[in-house]
Amino acid sequence: MSEQRLLQVRALDWEPLQALAHDCRACKLGSMSQRGVFGVGHPQARVMVVGEAPGAEEDRQGEPFVGAAGKLLDNMLRACGLSRAGEDPARTVYIANVIKCRPPGNRNPEPDEIAQCLPILQRQIELVRPRLLLALGRFAAQALTGSAEPIGRLRQRAWDWHGTPLVVSYHPAYLLRTPQDKAKAWADLCLAQDLLEGRGA
Ligand code: URA
Repeated sequence: MSEQRLLQVRALDWEPLQALAHDCRACKLGSMSQRGVFGVGHPQARVMVVGEAPGAEEDRQGEPFVGAAGKLLDNMLRACGLSRAGEDPARTVYIANVIKCRPPGNRNPEPDEIAQCLPILQRQIELVRPRLLLALGRFAAQALTGSAEPIGRLRQRAWDWHGTPLVVSYHPAYLLRTPQDKAKAWADLCLAQDLLEGRGA
């Protein structure tokens, strides 16, 4: 993304930012997907969840995490007293992905696609101003921590994203395939809650 476009994105408020994400053609994914999937939840949420990219169902419905992985995410959030729908910013999260357009066949996002899309996520985070960020899966974790380490080495640490505490955990789609790691994901959610309540790491 050019410096000029970066500055342009950083100046946008919610509506024009969403319009940009919907119609974006900055990388090849824009013309392959139905529309950019922007985000869902409370615009002033205390907790913001960041995933990877929309899948087929998300592309169809225009909402992040509405497929099988999304159901697991909703259950995990519910266990923490949180949900994606509601009026209370303390109980309603905001959910967005690193990549707004669906990669074909659910392939991994490519570095240039992440580079083009990341400023939109960064602007969303700036607008929400959450008290805690939860990055789910390798791509969200690496994009927000700036580290190339695997997820197993990034989790269980209190990261800092420009002054906002950041916790990294497994992606719900991975947990569906590897249910034995759900206990680790629960430990990550407990760390997130501790940070949120100011109990430190
Ligand atoms: N996986 C993600 O990372 N995001 C979605 O929106 C759906 C599945």
